[in-house]
Amino acid sequence: MKLKHCSMTLLFFISLTLFPYLIQSQTCQRTCGKQPIKYPFGTGPGCGDPRFQTHITCSQDQLTFSTHTGCYPVTSIDYTNQVLYITDPSMSTCSCTQPSKGFSLDWDAPFSFHDDNTFALLDCSTTSSPIYKTNPGNNSTATVPLCDTNGAAVCSLLFSCQAVSRLDTPVATCCVYTPVDLGPSFEMDLQKLQCTSYSGIYGFGGKNDDPGSWQYGVALKYKFNYNNEFPTNCENCERSNGACGYSGTYNSFVCNCPSGLNTTTDCFFAASWNHGLVLLPWQTGIDLCFVSSA
Ligand SMILES: *[C@@H]1O[C@H](CO)[C@@H](O)[C@H](O)[C@H]1NC(C)=O
Ligand SMILES: *[C@@H]1O[C@H](CO)[C@@H](O)[C@H](O)[C@H]1NC(C)=O
Ligand SMILES: *[C@@H]1O[C@H](CO)[C@@H](O)[C@H](O)[C@H]1NC(C)=O
Repeated sequence: MKLKHCSMTLLFFISLTLFPYLIQSQTCQRTCGKQPIKYPFGTGPGCGDPRFQTHITCSQDQLTFSTHTGCYPVTSIDYTNQVLYITDPSMSTCSCTQPSKGFSLDWDAPFSFHDDNTFALLDCSTTSSPIYKTNPGNNSTATVPLCDTNGAAVCSLLFSCQAVSRLDTPVATCCVYTPVDLGPSFEMDLQKLQCTSYSGIYGFGGKNDDPGSWQYGVALKYKFNYNNEFPTNCENCERSNGACGYSGTYNSFVCNCPSGLNTTTDCFFAASWNHGLVLLPWQTGIDLCFVSSA
């Protein structure tokens, strides 16, 4: 007991004098609140993948997704299927309707809409909305149909919600969109479409006819890179409890280890290296005591 105490003090002294930078904690966190953070996401500059860093940030234990239309809390991340689920505080649900400006992705964002998404545009002007503008003449191929007529059931079910029924507009003014119709820039500009609000649904919770239990929000897909391959060096880094990051002019890979140390490989290497340099006192302490008592 006494021996251990002595060696710990010695260790602390050596660490502090020779390697003060080793005592700092991991810069790139492996969680944000309760949400586990893995590649390609990161908790701050230099963490995760630089392409994702500007779009996803962790602040006050809340992971937030941002685009030019606003900031959206991240509900969860499905790392296996590579889907990010977000909520839009301005969107309408079965329990609450409210005005919204819509939702859009940045054109250069490394995200796209998941096919499970359904958007219902609510309370659109029947006189000025381009959704209802009929083509002068009878050539229907000249207009792009915005509403997915297959989604009519979604509309009538939504209007069975008390909050939505209060909108005082006919069910027919609800237009259902599937992401594919949002166009190349993924713009859902409600001002332009002359609608006051929208609902985003990414799941029906197995209860297709109960809008109260639907999953409201937006599901976004992401890819690691063009070929969607998880980088091997990052895989090794995460396996050793490191967080993947980048640094330097060329955003080269760094593995940020629990000790605060950065390596270009993984933290197994850092741990064994630190072992020699007394960073794991509960292991090295015994060695040192052995040495000092010898
Ligand atoms: C390690 O890398 C992270 C992310 O790039 C950086 O923020 C941090 O300052 C680096 N730490 C050290 C000790 O170099
Ligand atoms: C509608 O289309 C038919 C042929 O497809 C054409 O003969 C007719 O003139 C068109 N009517 C108008 C109002 O454009
Ligand atoms: C309808 O418009 C398209 C182009 O917008 C044209 O190619 C086609 O011939 C038109 N059809 C009729 C019946 O006028």
